[in-house]
Amino acid sequence: MKFSNVLLLVAISALLIAAAGCDQQPPVVPAQQATAAPGARPKKTYQDLVVGYAQIGAESEWRTANTISVKEAAAQLGVELKFVDGQQKQENQIQAIRTFIAQKVDVIGVPPVVETGWDEVFKEAKDAGIPIILVDRRAAVSGDLYVTLMGSDFVEEGRNAARVMAKLMNGKANIVELVGTIDSAPANDRYQGFREVLRDYPNMKIIDSQSGDFTRAKGKQVMEEFLRRHGNEINALYAHNDDMAIGAIQAIEEAGLKPGTDIKIVSIDAVHGAFEAMIAGKLNATVECNPLLGPEFLEMALKVVNGEPVPKWVPSKEGIFFPDNAKEVLATRKY
Ligand code: AHR
Repeated sequence: MKFSNVLLLVAISALLIAAAGCDQQPPVVPAQQATAAPGARPKKTYQDLVVGYAQIGAESEWRTANTISVKEAAAQLGVELKFVDGQQKQENQIQAIRTFIAQKVDVIGVPPVVETGWDEVFKEAKDAGIPIILVDRRAAVSGDLYVTLMGSDFVEEGRNAARVMAKLMNGKANIVELVGTIDSAPANDRYQGFREVLRDYPNMKIIDSQSGDFTRAKGKQVMEEFLRRHGNEINALYAHNDDMAIGAIQAIEEAGLKPGTDIKIVSIDAVHGAFEAMIAGKLNATVECNPLLGPEFLEMALKVVNGEPVPKWVPSKEGIFFPDNAKEVLATRKY
């Protein structure tokens, strides 16, 4: 046999031996997967969960309480939280979501400042395999673009505010309305729910309605306009949140009128400021909207990344509060 043929034989034999050996090697798996059931992805824990939260801003006491709730829950559970304050601008929230996508977070939580205009960025998150959890507010997108919505029944809050107002005014009133942020889910729903109930009270009239953007400053400014336009005709105020009601209370006092007496006031949220106003006799009722969604949100985030089934909406449980026991109740309130 020629020397070159001998070399060829040796090379072929070496290849055959190596191939046979490969078949017998155990497959190489990452350490984490070694304990998982065959074919299953390893379960995440809070400690290896990375969550992005694209907050609206800090427009109200409610919002601040929501931010604290999310941050505290993350710190307690050991979740890595990437938090962005959108300063009440949709484009900032969208930019934050895009940044979270680039950072490859596990889940994104977002309370959409307005209902519309989310399709594109939610689709980008979906394409990147990152689930969106809507916290607090709804977005007008198709159901496949988010996994769940956790938050209040804003329509029912509006209905409750109207029921309370009708009772306070014995079915007869000239109401001015401070609407929340235009095109936001709570403003749309609280507007609608209030009117639904008012249909049964023909003498309860909404004589003016304008947005105060959920802030104290705007609430005050718009109430000043209402008073200029309608003067003593106004005897009731419905505010879509406590902050706007508190701003309006200032305007009413500056106009020489008594809030809570000359003008009966019902608002929504049940934050500390509202209880203080009720104790001072300046606010007649507040309908609760719970901002303490942090722990539930992170529990939901973990379930979602671990592929557990979740409901499409988790509504909050909420009450209505009045001045008679405001002092005792305030002592028990977290926000
Ligand atoms: O989306 C919840 C609403 O947003 C609260 O009622 C209001 O205070 C906040 O700004």
